Amino acid sequence: MRVLRWLVLLAVIGAAGLWWMARPKPLAAAEVAGLTGDAARGETVFWAAGCASCHMAPGARGEAQLVLAGGQRFASDFGTFVAPNISQDPTHGIGGWSLLDLANALKRGVSPEGQHYYPSLPYASYAKMRLQDVTDLHAFLQTLPADATPSAPHELAFPFSRREAVGLWKILYLRGGWALAGNVTPTVDRGRYIAEALAHCGECHTPRTALGGMDTGRWLAGAPDPAGQGRIPNITPAALGWTAGDIVQYLTTGFTPEYDSVGGHMAHVVANMARLPESDRQAVAEYLLAVPNPD
Ligand code: HEC
Ligand code: HEC
Repeated sequence: MRVLRWLVLLAVIGAAGLWWMARPKPLAAAEVAGLTGDAARGETVFWAAGCASCHMAPGARGEAQLVLAGGQRFASDFGTFVAPNISQDPTHGIGGWSLLDLANALKRGVSPEGQHYYPSLPYASYAKMRLQDVTDLHAFLQTLPADATPSAPHELAFPFSRREAVGLWKILYLRGGWALAGNVTPTVDRGRYIAEALAHCGECHTPRTALGGMDTGRWLAGAPDPAGQGRIPNITPAALGWTAGDIVQYLTTGFTPEYDSVGGHMAHVVANMARLPESDRQAVAEYLLAVPNPD
């Protein structure tokens, strides 16, 4: 009986410990104190990070992409996520959000109310963003228009409809550190920051585990398309077989060396990359060629 009582006690402590480990972990206010944002620099961060690709209204083109009204739907194994309104509307968007609120959403996946966001907001990548870049992005977002379209709820089945479960996911997958680890040249380092932290290439191109985390051991080795049509290509060097010049050309114009033109979600990524300085596309190309080929 005594043993049983101990086992029950241990189980309770274990569950409480797991609960404690899985709690939302916002940044301390002191971490953003004293930072000031530059909206012009923030615009580059905005395009590199592809915020509009997910948060613009479905089918928006041209200037309308800057109205971050939400509403695009993203199918996944766990249900359908609907991108929320992140325009400057104070009720339906994120007008009035402090820098700390934005930094917590992007780097910790935590809402101003202290709840977990789903990793469909790709914070597993944005967690690696420099706080100065988040600060510049915050300044840029404030220059964008307000839109009063209400955010639509996600369509998720239990247990995925419970945000608490995301805490366990974060313990497993919200890790620091680069997928391409180690010392690299300054150019590859720049490319790594763009590809892994901002442009979140791995979120689409890296296969996922059963629990939906990126399988970093097979980084960029290709994955089924979550929308159910076809595969997202393996872009590790040997499988891709492109030169740095080929990659820069693709990220600038959308044309492959065989003169096929880019399609699907990658078309947004190319449009975003094309807005960056040529040196940044060159850096991404050198980074891609430095990624190890999977076994
Ligand atoms: C791959 C698509 C995708 C990209 C790219 C993306 N988001 Fe989101 N974002 C989402 C989804 C889906 C949610 C909803 C998450 C949830 O409800 O837990 C979200 C939630 C948010 C929220 C919380 C909104 C609220 O009402 O609480 C903010 C803020 C946000 N995103 C800002 C950004 C910014 C800034 C960027 C660019 C740095 C960005 N997102 C890039 C899909 C995306
Ligand atoms: C939102 C998902 C998504 C993201 C993010 C993404 N890609 Fe892609 N990528 C795709 C899809 C889908 C294709 C296939 C495009 C097609 O069929 O035309 C593709 C194709 C490519 C190709 C061409 C491969 C081939 O064999 O033709 C390259 C190179 C590439 N991506 C590099 C990148 C890089 C570099 C990044 C980050 C800067 C990135 N991708 C981010 C979805 C994505």
